[in-house]
Amino acid sequence: MLEVRDLVVGYGKAAVVHGVSFDVRAGEFVVLLGRNGAGKSTILHALSGLIPKRGGRVTFEGADITAATARKVVQAGVIQVLEGHRVFHSLSVEDNLLVGTYVRSPRGDRSKLDRIYAMFPEMAEKRHDAASRLSGGQQQILAVAQGVIGEPKLLILDEPSGGLAPIVIDRILDVAAQLCREGMSILLVEQIVEKALRHADHCYLVDTGRIVGDGPADTMLGSAALHDAYLGRSSG
Ligand SMILES: Nc1ncnc2c1ncn2[C@@H]1O[C@H](COP(=O)(O)OP(=O)(O)OP(=O)(O)O)[C@@H](O)[C@H]1O
Ligand SMILES: [Mg+2]
Repeated sequence: MLEVRDLVVGYGKAAVVHGVSFDVRAGEFVVLLGRNGAGKSTILHALSGLIPKRGGRVTFEGADITAATARKVVQAGVIQVLEGHRVFHSLSVEDNLLVGTYVRSPRGDRSKLDRIYAMFPEMAEKRHDAASRLSGGQQQILAVAQGVIGEPKLLILDEPSGGLAPIVIDRILDVAAQLCREGMSILLVEQIVEKALRHADHCYLVDTGRIVGDGPADTMLGSAALHDAYLGRSSG
């Protein structure tokens, strides 16, 4: 479904992502794991058209989206939930959700709300509260719901666990797994290893802007490649 080939991305003079290739198949839950500064968010931002690519090719459902703008990428069915639960603080929960529908209908689409409230009952309760009044965990759930309401074919989640309590992390990963069972493809970026691997089908390890290993998620835990990606390379 998503094919990334030899992706090169950088900031200023420095290349940060040095020729990364990976796939997300239809209906698959893929996780990119790697420590702080490995280049995970940079890869995602380049895919989503938020920062330019310096090389490589990205296709989605057979269409070349290498040079697509962020808007075109979203319209193709790829929606990214950014790192750090970014929601519109001054808007209500419901208005934040309606913003998420703009990608399909410029005036907003209230008909999508019921399904989202059924999926995220904690948001239904708070629908009229300003997002600023939510806890960090609730804001992250809102950010995910805002992505989901846009009905992506591929939902990209950038470190949804960031700074949150284990119970919230579990909730978000459970929702992602449920969406995947319903047919949505998931590309998750994480630093927390075990929980992410428990939910994913396939795992890629990212270290200093390269893919340094990959395999079925259930075989990665305890692997030497995983150990190296987190603790630095051993002798070779
Ligand atoms: N806007 C930027 N300008 C310059 N360098 C950047 C910028 N954003 C990130 N970098 C650098 O690129 C490298 C990769 O950063 P990136 O944010 O992609 O890592 P990450 O794997 O997402 O890390 P984290 O897990 O902490 O979110 C880091 O060395 C970082 O300092
Ligand atoms: Mg990041």
